[in-house]
Amino acid sequence: MTNQIKQFAFDVSLLVITQIVVYYGFKYVMSKLDPEQNEKSEITNKGNQAIKQLQLKNLKLNQYEKIVASEVVFSEQISEGFSDIGGIDKIIESLKESVIYPLTHPHLFNCRSGLIGTPKGVLLYGPPGCGKTMLAKALAKESGARFINLRLSTLLDKWYGESNKLAKAVFTLAEKLEPCLVFIDEVDSFLRNRNSDDHEATSMMKAEFMSLWDGLTTNNKSRVILIGATNRPNDIDLAMLRRMPKRFYLQPPNEPQRVQILKILLKDVALSPHFDFVKLAKDTQNMSGSDIKEVCRSAAMNPIYEYIRKNPSATSTPFNYSQEPTQDSQISQRLYRHVENRDFEMFLNQNDSSLLTSYNINNMDIFNIDQCD
Ligand SMILES: Nc1ncnc2c1ncn2[C@@H]1O[C@H](COP(=O)(O)OP(=O)(O)OP(=O)(O)O)[C@@H](O)[C@H]1O
Ligand SMILES: [Mg+2]
Repeated sequence: MTNQIKQFAFDVSLLVITQIVVYYGFKYVMSKLDPEQNEKSEITNKGNQAIKQLQLKNLKLNQYEKIVASEVVFSEQISEGFSDIGGIDKIIESLKESVIYPLTHPHLFNCRSGLIGTPKGVLLYGPPGCGKTMLAKALAKESGARFINLRLSTLLDKWYGESNKLAKAVFTLAEKLEPCLVFIDEVDSFLRNRNSDDHEATSMMKAEFMSLWDGLTTNNKSRVILIGATNRPNDIDLAMLRRMPKRFYLQPPNEPQRVQILKILLKDVALSPHFDFVKLAKDTQNMSGSDIKEVCRSAAMNPIYEYIRKNPSATSTPFNYSQEPTQDSQISQRLYRHVENRDFEMFLNQNDSSLLTSYNINNMDIFNIDQCD
């Protein structure tokens, strides 16, 4: 009898051990077969680091939330604030009132019916290079809220159903981190018009995203806002657009706005005392903020080129790469003359075509709802 019991115990333990070996062996083989294994563990590590940096006690995340957590951006990592953006003071003021204050001072926006509070979606739209991405980053820096810079690649997974779980994780993580801003740049590519040709997995993910977003809209207490930026607002699905009721049109800058942008872009450049910002603003008509930045960059380098041409010896000695280059701009600026209006004229005459002029600004018209200029 005892022998039979012993034999039985031996068989059971053998069965258990073989099952465990098969389980872990299979898991190991599967992980080795997955070509994205290293990438995945890197993302999860990044997510774990972000969670540590958040210093939130009792924050427990599942594997999908950890992947999304790798997209959390901290305000210290962002260099641009509102003061670095020129010509959109009214939009900034409106964003502060409609987004930042309800997030940071929820007690002031308390209403049982949920009529008062944060909008659950904000859309920044306008022609390319007019500061949409820059504004969203500045918002992350100045709001003090946690910021998830959501990329489409984060949500895509080759396994069926995984994208849905990742989409869900965006919302569950944002709720755990609230107050939280979820930023989707070039939102048109993600939330574009749905049609019957869409891949099943993509349409399932979009549907999941929409219903989870609705959940936010119905939850009065939630302090999560989705912010989208696009230069193709007409491509966004109408149902998605409905979920972004607060819309800001970042239009090509007019003359006074260009003066402000120029003053910001040239604040650290040694300018001649007779420098005329208004004339330069007139000369940069039809240009976006990004075009103006490019013009400023080229013009500000003109005195350096001039100095090099006059002093060939300045570049003839081989550079010692082991030596740290001087970071003090004032020392190097003493070498060459101050930047003048003529530096810009030279450049503007060569490149008088702007990308913006060829861009059809009229295709933004139907969305001029919350336009602040
Ligand atoms: N209003 C502005 N004030 C200061 N700089 C600006 C402004 N608008 C644009 N810029 C400059 O142009 C660059 C590009 O801007 P940004 O990336 O925000 O454009 P965008 O609107 O997101 O364009 P796209 O639609 O192509 O993504 C910024 O990094 C900034 O240097
Ligand atoms: Mg952008």
